[in-house]
Amino acid sequence: MKYVYAAALIGTTAAGAAAQEVKIGYALAEDSHYGVAAKAFERSVTDSLGDQFSFRHFPSSGLGGEREVVEGVQLGSVEMTIVSTGTLSNFLPEVGVFDVPFLFASLDHARKVLDGEIGQDMLAKFDDAGLRALAWGEQGFRHITNNRGPIATPEDTEGLKIRTMENPVHIEAFRALGAAPTPMAWPEVIGALQQGAIDGQENPLSVIVSAKLSEVQKYLTLDGHVYSPAVILISPALWGQLDDAQKTAFDQAATDAVAAMRGYVDDVEASGVATLKEQGMQVNELSPDQKAAFRDALAEPYKTYEAQFGKDLMDRIQAVD
Ligand code: PAF
Repeated sequence: MKYVYAAALIGTTAAGAAAQEVKIGYALAEDSHYGVAAKAFERSVTDSLGDQFSFRHFPSSGLGGEREVVEGVQLGSVEMTIVSTGTLSNFLPEVGVFDVPFLFASLDHARKVLDGEIGQDMLAKFDDAGLRALAWGEQGFRHITNNRGPIATPEDTEGLKIRTMENPVHIEAFRALGAAPTPMAWPEVIGALQQGAIDGQENPLSVIVSAKLSEVQKYLTLDGHVYSPAVILISPALWGQLDDAQKTAFDQAATDAVAAMRGYVDDVEASGVATLKEQGMQVNELSPDQKAAFRDALAEPYKTYEAQFGKDLMDRIQAVD
């Protein structure tokens, strides 16, 4: 590692100028949707700009939890990250609207919202939070895994010690269901599941498969309670140093990274359940009626979400087709 670091620092471009190092940190492995997107980003920048930038990847929370990494991006000590919106509510509370349960009907619907006016307006707001957001990626729809038993009704979550992200929207929803939500940074989750400190967690198939949660979780309930967007963030310090051609190349790289990330999510949505069953997980999928019972159990939190984010905005999101 020391050697790689030294090599990066002394790296020079073909023209003899020093290549600028870009540290990119993310919570999941190199072969996850985040890793695939980060590699696609690097390839695209290198294709456009040659060796002006040298990328150093820090997968698997190598720079710490998502909150710490985003703080690093604000400060400029980390140049880039790919991160879930679950974490970003702590930096830009408005973005929490995308974490509202059962708001999005499908991946296609969510992508249209994020690529359209509502999503693009939200991306621009990250400037006010001391961050530069390049593009929306995604993780997919979040599902519950646990070691206690199959979940088919809201009552089945009663008292379930479920790890949530440090996200008020998620925490409120699980509390209303009667579960015992336990907010925790991602790097602690596998250990807590192994030790039985928590019964379960919730994440999309992209995470459940790439983080090998089948090794520590027995039951998977496909409830799709929350769509989980991701964002490609760059530090305002680095963005401010880029010239116009470099900014164009970085924007194109973000588009290429999103295509790679969505491609990964499409594949894992198609094959992930079979993979997890082969690995021994017991899987149940909620019927539309069962899903409606979960949605009905969230009537109280919905009042809070509407007051916080605006019923009008939530209606506009649901009306996009
Ligand atoms: O559950 C989380 O904390 C996030 O979904 C994860 C796995 C860190 C990816 O952003």
